[in-house]
Formats: sequence, C-alpha cells, structure tokens
Amino acid sequence: MSDKIVCDCMGTTVEDIKVAVANGAKTVEDIKEATEAGTVCCGCDCELETTLHEVL
Ligand code: FES
Repeated sequence: MSDKIVCDCMGTTVEDIKVAVANGAKTVEDIKEATEAGTVCCGCDCELETTLHEVL
C-alpha cells in the first residue's frame, strides 16, 4: 500500500508522503515543497489531501 503512487507526474508514493509528514509536513503545500508532488499538473491535489489526512 505504501508504494501506491499518489502523484503520477513525479512518481510520489504514499511512503514518500509518510516520510514528509515524519519530517514535519502538515499541509498539502508542505507536501508539495518536500516531495515536488503536485507541482506539474495539479491533477493529484485531491489525492494528496486525502493521503495526507490518512497519514496524519
Ligand atoms: S499527477 Fe501530481 S502533478 Fe501531475
């Protein structure tokens, strides 16, 4: 499950988001900064938000 891709453009996985949260990310913007997910087409914003809430 952790290797599920959340952002297709950057290949960011659930695990990458977990690491970002462990390192202090608390918002979707923090996740974008830490992983570059959501910085290409923004098509994954909803997915990023959902995953962030699951991980928090
Ligand atoms: S799918 Fe995440 S930036 Fe395109």
